[in-house]
This record gives sequence, C-alpha cells and structure tokens, in this order.
Amino acid sequence: MGEIRVLPPEVRKLIAAGEVIERPANVVKELIENSLDAQAKSIYVETLQGGKHLIEVRDNGKGILKEDLPKVILEGATSKIEKAEDLFSVKTLGFRGEALSSIAKVSRITLTSRHFSQDRGYQLLARGGKAEYLREVAHPVGTTVVVEELFFNLPVRLKFLKTAKTERKLITETVVTYALANPQVAFTLIQEGKTVLELKPSSVEERILEIFKLDYPPFRVQAQNEIGKAEIFYYTNFRSNKFFVFLNGRPIFNKELQTYLKNKLGYKTLAVLFLEIPPYLVDVNVHPRKEEVRFLQQRKVLNLLGKLFGEEKTPTPPTEVLKSSAYTEYLKPPQFEILGQIEETLIVAYRKGFIYFFDQHLLDEVVNFALTRDETKACKSSIKAGDKLSKKQMEELLSRWEALGQPKTCPHGRPVFFKIPVGEIFKKLGRG
Ligand SMILES: Nc1ncnc2c1ncn2[C@@H]1O[C@H](COP(=O)(O)OP(=O)(O)OP(=O)(O)O)[C@@H](O)[C@H]1O
Ligand SMILES: [Mg+2]
Repeated sequence: MGEIRVLPPEVRKLIAAGEVIERPANVVKELIENSLDAQAKSIYVETLQGGKHLIEVRDNGKGILKEDLPKVILEGATSKIEKAEDLFSVKTLGFRGEALSSIAKVSRITLTSRHFSQDRGYQLLARGGKAEYLREVAHPVGTTVVVEELFFNLPVRLKFLKTAKTERKLITETVVTYALANPQVAFTLIQEGKTVLELKPSSVEERILEIFKLDYPPFRVQAQNEIGKAEIFYYTNFRSNKFFVFLNGRPIFNKELQTYLKNKLGYKTLAVLFLEIPPYLVDVNVHPRKEEVRFLQQRKVLNLLGKLFGEEKTPTPPTEVLKSSAYTEYLKPPQFEILGQIEETLIVAYRKGFIYFFDQHLLDEVVNFALTRDETKACKSSIKAGDKLSKKQMEELLSRWEALGQPKTCPHGRPVFFKIPVGEIFKKLGRG
C-alpha cells in the first residue's frame, strides 16, 4: 500500500481555515475589517494572553439581522459581493465570505448583534463551526464578537503560536495599522486589562502624532497623475524604518513599493502612504489574506510615487508665509542666549532650562524656503556647514527663525534643532 492518502474533507477544510487564520492578530484583523465595513464609528478591541485566551471586538456599526446571524459562520456567506464581476469593483475590505467561517471552525465564537432596524439583540454561539444556540439578548446597535479557545482543535497551530508578549505586539501592530487608515474612527485597545490605545476621531496627522508620540507633525506631500492620487505623511527622525501603505483604504504589501520607499526615504523614517487608484486597476485577489496586491499598471503607479518625491514635489510648508516683521530691519532680538558655535556647523544656545543645538544650515534654509517657496533656491542660498558665524549673525538667524514661528523641521522633514534639559546635565554631575 502506498503512503499517500487523501485527507477527509473535514480535515482539509480545517487546514484551509487555518491558513487564513494563523494567529490571534489575523482574527483581530478580520474582525476590525468587518466592523469598518459595517460603518462603525467606534471600535473596541480587548485581548487576554495575546489573544490566546480571548479576543473581543465590539463596534457600533449597522449590526446583523437576526435571520442573517446563523449564516455569517457559513463558508462563502457574504453580504458584500454577489457575482464574480463584483470582484473588480470591491469597495469593502471583506468580500470572500470566509473570515467568520474560518474563525468559527477553529474556536468558540460568540456573535452578539443588534441590527439598526431591530429593537433587540441576538446572540449566536458556535464551537468548531457548529452553532450551539441563538438567543435574544440585550445589546446596543452594533456587533460584539468574542473568540475563545482559538485552535482548540488544531494542536499543531496552537503549538506554533509565539509567547503572549509577541502575539500582543502583532495585535497592537494590526490595530495601529487600521487606526492609521481610519483616523475618523475611534479605536480602543485593551490588552491584559491595560489600555494600550485610546484614540478619538481625528485627522491623519493628529493620529500619527498620537500613536507614535512624535515631537512634531509629519511632513505631508500630495501628488496625482492620470491613474490616481497619492498622499504621503513622513517623519524622518524616527527610531527605525516603518512604512505603512494603504490602497483605497486597505493596508497592502507590495514588494516593489516597499523597496521604492526605502530608497527614497532611507532609514529612520516613519511614512504613511495613501494611494487612491480605481479598483479595476488593482487585483486584490492574489492572496487569501488580501494583503498582497498587484497593480495592473505598475509603471504608472511608480510614476505617481515619483511625483511625490520628484520635481513636482509640493511640500506643505512648516508654517505660514513669512511675515514682513521677519526682515532684518524689523527683527526683535532672539529669546535665546547664544553660547557659541561648534565645529562651524552647530549653533549652541540657551533658553528656559534647555540647551539647544541648531543645525545652522537647516535653520537658514527654513527661513529662506518660507521667503522663496523654492526648495532648491532655499538650499543653495543658505549658510552652509563649515561657515564661520559671528555672534551677531547667529542672533540674526535665530531672530528670523523666531519671527517665522519656529518651524521645527526643514522642507525635507529633518529637525532643525536638538535640545537637552540642563537638569539632565546637573544630574550627570551629581547635582540632581
Ligand atoms: N461587525 C459586523 N457588523 C455587521 N455585519 C457583519 C459584521 N461582521 C460580519 N458581518 C456580516 O457577516 C458577513 C460575513 O463576514 P465575513 O467576515 O465572514 O465575510 P466578508 O467580510 O463578507 O468577507 P471576508 O471573508 O473577505 O472577510 C459579512 O458579509 C457581513 O454581512
Ligand atoms: Mg470579513
């Protein structure tokens, strides 16, 4: 007798389900996508043991009708597309009708929902894909999904899960990704009873600032060409390299695109890129987890990105146009006490308990950019590293910069200064 045998259909189905849902973060992703598709304005995520014990996602979306509740855990059951052609005009995040059935097969799932047209809620409980009950319960309009005992019937998958700490990190990353793509939606993330994220509806910039606790807002550049629009937010002083790419609101991965961004932005850059390209030019059906996309006109997509970084770049200036008071004759003395210049590159100054190190070239460049609106001109006409400056020149530079509203970054997004609290120096000297 040979060694090969065909697996029974139940086992094959389980494995297929396990391919889409490999770990708790995949469950979180699918449930958040469903909440977003249901037009939720607020999404609450809670997990225990990195999702191994419990994953709960609660939303205030439109809810699920009582008669639809038992259907949602069936394979291929979706309200989002009807026929194959619809795949080319997918506007929702989900469309396969597989996520909930896959999750249900490998866990104990409790779906509680009240549709906006109903005056009461209903709850469905299923274990290993089999519905155990449907009952009436009190629930506000919206949906709560609780997933427990994940992979109880797939011991191998369970064994391959990482520590709760690692799984937690992946969950946080997932929630952060969707929170960046949907700043108009409130997100809460609670892990092991601790609040990890609590995000109110806001703008993209505010959301980036809040999530990553940046010192100053990211730079923003927009571009468009005949196939679509692109908008990028970037911050060049980050702890590592991190790129988020969203295509029509969907987080995506595309190797060429990642490489392109890395080449353009270099290391230590946080970038959030939004692309808007008509759905018929994008194939999202490449991978069952829908992360990988193929562009039908890749060259035009790269051309669109080129515009973000190339000649036609139009960065939003760090502040409003320079006011006339910034011209030398009207300048007020700076609020800084100039301490000196080091290595003919940095201006060192003191103000209110901090020692500031200014990059003399960038300091001059932001001022000139505000005056000329021309990056190349601003850069060329500015003081260079290596220029020896008198105290008067340094004071003038700082006065001009102050008159401008003290922009923290240059037109390329680099920080103009770095500061250290004098208190920290005292501490180092044992005076703290
Ligand atoms: N939070 C929710 N609010 C309202 N309806 C929901 C919610 N979650 C699921 N549904 C309903 O259940 C159906 C099945 O969800 P499921 O995630 O399995 O499939 P899908 O989202 O249609 O496609 P995909 O498998 O690509 O995610 C959805 O089409 C939707 O009608
Ligand atoms: Mg879905």
